[in-house]
Amino acid sequence: MAAAEVVTIDWPPELPKPRIGIVKDFDPYPRWTKLCRFLDNNDFEYDVYNIHAHDWLKQAERFDLVAGIWSCELRCLQEMREKYWFLENHLGKRTFPSFAHAFLYEDKRLEAYLASVHGIPFAKTYVSYDLQDALALIETLDYPVVSKLVPSSASVGVELVHDPKGARRLIKQAFSVAGRGTHSTYARQKNYIYLQEFIPSDGFEIRAIVVRNWVFGYYRQVLEGDFRASGMNLVEKRELPQEAMRLALKLNRVVKSPQLVVDMIRDLHGCYHVIEFSPVCQMETPEQLHVNGKPGVYIFDDDGNGQFKEGKYWLMELALREFLLSDYLPRASVPLLLSRSGPCASR
Ligand SMILES: Nc1ncnc2c1ncn2[C@@H]1O[C@H](COP(=O)(O)OP(=O)(O)O)[C@@H](O)[C@H]1O
Ligand SMILES: [Mg+2]
Repeated sequence: MAAAEVVTIDWPPELPKPRIGIVKDFDPYPRWTKLCRFLDNNDFEYDVYNIHAHDWLKQAERFDLVAGIWSCELRCLQEMREKYWFLENHLGKRTFPSFAHAFLYEDKRLEAYLASVHGIPFAKTYVSYDLQDALALIETLDYPVVSKLVPSSASVGVELVHDPKGARRLIKQAFSVAGRGTHSTYARQKNYIYLQEFIPSDGFEIRAIVVRNWVFGYYRQVLEGDFRASGMNLVEKRELPQEAMRLALKLNRVVKSPQLVVDMIRDLHGCYHVIEFSPVCQMETPEQLHVNGKPGVYIFDDDGNGQFKEGKYWLMELALREFLLSDYLPRASVPLLLSRSGPCASR
């Protein structure tokens, strides 16, 4: 922990700092400990919040802001979406990530819809919840296509479908009464298909991680004899292409997330296609980018040029600072500004 740069925030003295409830995550590389480090270094009042307990509403009274994503497992996503929606909309609390970003997290369908309406080059994706529509659709596609489950991670639930016959089999199972069995013991693929054009790549997936105009990232190699890189642990850290980073920055101008993790494939013509994006990901080290063996970050100027700067950062700390600066503070300042411009403002 100590090896990473200390991340500080300039807090306006006239505004009270929020009291923060930290939700612990279940993943092997804890994010919550990094959030605590940031809060300690910046004198915030916080406590661990057991959001899973029966008295979570009562406990929430102690906090202004609730922070944390605890797992990408379906049951956890459902709990988080419900509770963050309730905290934001009915208790007047803020959450980090916001409900909107928590809702997007691990939803590949929403990612594809967002990218398509905002002109982001995303692998062409077909989602259907209609049996007759799905059966007609698969006759029109170029094969192979990639079938995906929502939610899923580490390439589990991502498979190639080689021809219309395979697609018909998939549809038959997914639209059956019980749905199609998956890797999960309690979630089945029921009455939807998610198919995506297969993009032949140069053997790598590029991950760019954006926080405001800062970009980190690395390459993940496709497993030999396979087409999938996610979850295979074949990470290479080296210089990132500026064009790929600019695409990730462009995407975050749409998503507006304090942190955005963007996975892209470079096709055989050199064009980049986003295949997945997420407000968080697992991070094992404070070295999410290496250039010439040195850890650091690319800092982008207004003309879209990224310059490398050395340093080690826990991204969750940068993301929480970004959330506070770009989301929490502007909203917290509005009542203050209104009260200043009110009848007593001149006294
Ligand atoms: N459309 C595609 N074309 C080619 N390869 C793909 C495509 N979509 C995914 N992949 C490969 O499969 C892996 C897993 O897919 P992804 O959608 O990222 O799911 P996960 O959530 O499991 O990471 C990716 O890391 C990538 O290597
Ligand atoms: Mg992925």
